[in-house]
Formats: sequence, C-alpha cells, structure tokens
Amino acid sequence: MIIDDLTLTPKALADAERWTAHNYHPLPVVIAEAEGAWVTDVDGRRYLDCLAGYSALNFGHRHPALIAAAHAQLDRLTLTSRAFVHDQFAAFCKGLAELCGQDLVLPMNTGAEAVETAIKVSRAWGYRVKGVGTGRAHIIVADGNFHGRTTTIVSFSTDADARNDFGPYTPGFTVVPYGDLAAMAAAITEDTVAVLIEPIQGEAGVLVPPPGYLRGVRALCTERNVLFVADEIQSGLGRTGATFACDHEDVRPDLVLLGKALGGGIVPVSAVAGRRDVLGVLRPGEHGSTFGGNPLACAVATEVVHLLATGEFQRRSATLGARLHAGLTGLIGKGVITVRGRGLWAGVDIDPALMTGRRACELLLEQGVLVKDTHGSTIRIAPPLTVTEDDIDFALGRLAAVLSSP
Ligand SMILES: Cc1ncc(COP(=O)(O)O)c(C=O)c1O
Repeated sequence: MIIDDLTLTPKALADAERWTAHNYHPLPVVIAEAEGAWVTDVDGRRYLDCLAGYSALNFGHRHPALIAAAHAQLDRLTLTSRAFVHDQFAAFCKGLAELCGQDLVLPMNTGAEAVETAIKVSRAWGYRVKGVGTGRAHIIVADGNFHGRTTTIVSFSTDADARNDFGPYTPGFTVVPYGDLAAMAAAITEDTVAVLIEPIQGEAGVLVPPPGYLRGVRALCTERNVLFVADEIQSGLGRTGATFACDHEDVRPDLVLLGKALGGGIVPVSAVAGRRDVLGVLRPGEHGSTFGGNPLACAVATEVVHLLATGEFQRRSATLGARLHAGLTGLIGKGVITVRGRGLWAGVDIDPALMTGRRACELLLEQGVLVKDTHGSTIRIAPPLTVTEDDIDFALGRLAAVLSSP
C-alpha cells in the first residue's frame, strides 16, 4: 500500500489524531464506505473486514433488510423515551425473549449498560429474593474478563490499562481464574448473588473454557442459589456457530446480556434477557435510559431477531468457521503458535520472535485485510457472518503471505 501526500488518507489520519483524545490506537486506514464484508477507504482501496466492529457487524455492513427496517422507521418515529410506550417496543421484547428462551427483556444501548443493569438486578435480587443483608451483595467474575469501561466494570477488570488510575473502585466483586470450577465454588459465600462470565472471553484473546465449564457453572449456581449471568455481548447472536455460545453446552443462564450485533451495526442496542422472578425485581423508577428501547433501535433489532430466527447465520458461522479454523491450524509452525475459537471467531497467537500482533495487523492492512491485535501477540479474526468461502481463503492467503515474508 502506498500512502503518499496525493492521497486523502494522511490528512484524515492527522486530523483525527489532532482533534480526539487518544484513548484508541487505530490502524492507519480511513474508511469511507462499506457493503457486506468489504469496506472502502477514502482513497478507494478495498479491504476485507475481518473484525466486524468487534462482532457488532455479524450481518455485514448495511445488510439490506436491516437498512430497510431503519429507513422505514426513520420515516415514522425515532424517539419517545420510556415515559410512553411505542408501537415497536413489544414486538422487539417478545422476539428477543423468545430467541433467548427467557421471560422478559430490558433494553439499553451499550454493552456496558447491559452489564451495569445486570449488576443492579443481581444485587436487587440478592436483597429482595435471596435475603442477603443490606450492602453485602457480592458477585464473582473471572480473571481476564472484559465487560466494558464504566467505573464499576473496570473495578473488577484484571487488565492494568483498563483499570489503573481510574479508582476508587467499586467493592463487591471477587475475581477467580477463568475455567476453574473449583475456584468458583470456593469463592461462593452466602452473600454471593451472581456469577458474571463471558462464555468465551473475547478481549482476552478468544479464550474458550474447558469442555463442561459452562454446564458446571450452571449446576453450581443452581445448587448454591446464585444467578448465572452470561455476557454474550460479543459471543452471542450467531458468532460462534450457534445463537449463543452457551448453546454449545445446552446451558440457559438466569440473565443473558446482549449488545453489539443486536443493533445490526446501525444503532447501539443492548439488552438483558431473563426470567420473570429475576428481571421482574425492578420497580418503576429504579433503572432506565432515555434512549434505551427507542423505536429506531427496536425496529432494527427486531429485524436482527428475524434474521437469526432463520438459523442461516448460525449455520454459515459454523461451516465457514470450520474452514477458517482449518486454514489457521495449517499455519501453526509457520508463524502461528496457537489458534483458539469457535465458529467465525478466532484468536491467533503470532510467534513473538517473528513480529508483534500489531505489526501483523499493519502488514495485513497493507494486504487488504482488517484485523485487530490484543495482548501483544494475538490477533482476533471475526469477519461478518456473511463472508464467502473465497473471502475466507483470501484472508488466510494474506495471513500466510505476511507471516512468510515479515
Ligand atoms: C463481552 C463484552 N461485554 C461488554 C462489552 C462492552 O460493550 P460496549 O463497548 O458496547 O459498552 C464488550 C465490548 O467489547 C464485550 O466484548
């Protein structure tokens, strides 16, 4: 890729750098348009999007059915607040509750808000249903977690960059090793109200827990009267080859947290879905959001639920994911050390002797593939579920080329 002064990219990058806080370190590409799995930059170069907005674009960029739903709703009604009921609300909540096999849905906007909602609901359930003493509620989380960026959520992060210098921290959380059922069992006390985990840890590098772990967490939570809260914000909605990552172990959590792809890559939509005896503890005035469950969000998210109800995207993720993982496994020993993941979701550890994860991403960018690094030497591959076999082969070919001539 040649970026010179005659192209639009350098100025657009410099302007972004000049006028924004530096809380991100983006790759040097300025995207102007996109369709399906492909994006085009301001200079007309095309790239295969193998990050898909950290799984917010499971259905690709500008999926026609989602764009049509958004357009139609933009022309009718966009916001009411929850002071009133609007005509898109019930259909969305019903559709999502049924997709999740749950009774009730509480819509919010960002993933972090869904997590915060679940923390509040779990604590309220602890005091009002379980009978935990006031102010004593306690939640178990996993080492390496990523649940968002609010002050409470970073309080139980184990990532120094996410947490350091943002205290004082919210108490009431215990961190246990991910995948370790015995440690979780030992950490549960009579004040424990919930276990909050990602069924697959995305930001940690697409870490898949040992087989039986999710079933074990479910059994433990049931046995000890603790809520199982599954953060499926990144793992859910088709990404792993099933509707939810918990489906792989036939597990139904007490609360499931969704976000990212729920908004179809168009609007921020998140939600908590749960049983009536859990989510039903909230009373009017105790929780809310001006934009949560707005008509535009509901119209788009209802269409997302329809797309998932066909099962097509889950099947594509499973089939194309097998192709992706077979190709990546073939690169082990050729610059790749380990490959993890499920469906169209992979964490690939690059040999640090060869290059960093960041360098691999920069070289892939030059080759027309967008991916993002995490934790030094891992790259995450998570293309839209609409990619083709040729797209997968293209990405694999580019990765092989980058690793063979660093
Ligand atoms: C598992 C998980 N939970 C929560 C979040 C936070 O979502 P948001 O960035 O929309 O607040 C993320 C974002 O990456 C995530 O991966």
